[in-house]
Amino acid sequence: MSLIESLANPTRSVPPQAEFVAFLADEQSTETVERFALARMMPHTYIRQGNVADATEFMAKLERPPRQLVVDISTSAMALSELAALAEVCAPSVSVVVIGERNDVGLFRELLRMGVDEYISKPLTIDLLTRLLGGPGAVVAPVHQVRTGKLVACVGARGGVGVSTVAANVAFHLAHNVDRRVVLIDMDPFGGPMNILLGTQCNNGLGDVLKNVRRLDTQYMERTTVSLGGKLFLLTAQNDLDSPEPMDVAALRELVSELKRHFHYVIIDMPDRAGPAAMAVLEEAQVVALVTEPSVYAARETARLIRIAETRDAHVPVMLIANQPRQSGRGELAMRDFEEAVGRRASHVLPYDHDSASRAENLGPPVVASRGALAMALKRVGDDLAGRQLEDKPKRAFSFRDHPLLRHLLEWRA
Ligand SMILES: Nc1ncnc2c1ncn2[C@@H]1O[C@H](COP(=O)(O)OP(=O)(O)OP(=O)(O)O)[C@@H](O)[C@H]1O
Ligand SMILES: [Mg+2]
Repeated sequence: MSLIESLANPTRSVPPQAEFVAFLADEQSTETVERFALARMMPHTYIRQGNVADATEFMAKLERPPRQLVVDISTSAMALSELAALAEVCAPSVSVVVIGERNDVGLFRELLRMGVDEYISKPLTIDLLTRLLGGPGAVVAPVHQVRTGKLVACVGARGGVGVSTVAANVAFHLAHNVDRRVVLIDMDPFGGPMNILLGTQCNNGLGDVLKNVRRLDTQYMERTTVSLGGKLFLLTAQNDLDSPEPMDVAALRELVSELKRHFHYVIIDMPDRAGPAAMAVLEEAQVVALVTEPSVYAARETARLIRIAETRDAHVPVMLIANQPRQSGRGELAMRDFEEAVGRRASHVLPYDHDSASRAENLGPPVVASRGALAMALKRVGDDLAGRQLEDKPKRAFSFRDHPLLRHLLEWRA
């Protein structure tokens, strides 16, 4: 929306893009901010009378996050928890400025801790806003980045356990049903399944972006990612199978930390559980979604991966997802034995559902768009990542020798 349009048509509901968004509790403050925006010739503004809840509802609908959000807590009964709810729908890159009536250092500190960039107490004046919000010598630029997104590393204890299924569905659910901005990276440089699972076309954006990490701004990101419904963005590559190019691990680390500034979730579908690129992702992750299945081999590899995630400097919580990608037979480990063997309970158990999984894989849309038991279980994984605290403490130290089946296997191999 142009400046003229935005001034001539102030009641338009949700603009396609807004660079500066403000919700003020009273008419006088709203007018002051409007005059400030006009004086600074700000394009793409959205300034309304409203409270934190109005701002939260608006931000959840907005497809592209603004540069700056001004929100007024003077009518909020529970300002901090209302702001926490706002932070949930507000991409980490947004500079948030809070307006209030109290001039209180304790409150200011608390707000800074939450990632708010500035607190301004009323009454508002154009001079004050210019000094603190914009114009030469403004206090608020650059943003100090307290809020950053979460990297979720999806890794499998062995091949074919359902890592890509979990990554695709959790990303889809968080973007479509929980209103989070999500970027999903298929880390298989030779063409992983993500484009097929989500019905998109590979544009080789991952290779491109790894070569130009330093140039990663909003416009470049929009050009290199494939967008799916406004909140989900995909980065994939499809190098020739005989391409010798290795993954640039330093660039990958940089890419992830840059993406975390722009998205609530960076979800990586890892094709391997070993090697330098895999280790870098596990190290950078805020959560490792470890997908496994109840088999002896998967139990051994699960235990090894848990040890890797938990003994590194950055202790990463592990969400253990026990999937059943195959119909269980008589030789399978019972879930209880499996949990006993790895020394912890699964955070989530996904049921076997061949029809839903293969329909989603071959025809689309992803499983979570349907209603079956597998869809519900996958949604719960996403909800867990979006909110509930993860239980990351092992029940007890794991030892292979404790489990009769594994002991038998080790003795047999010795
Ligand atoms: N709970 C389930 N019930 C039935 N089929 C499933 C289930 N989970 C996954 N599958 C199917 O199992 C196959 C492997 O799943 P997926 O590709 O997600 O695994 P992966 O761990 O990413 O494999 P890879 O090692 O090849 O990367 C797919 O055909 C998928 O549809
Ligand atoms: Mg896979």
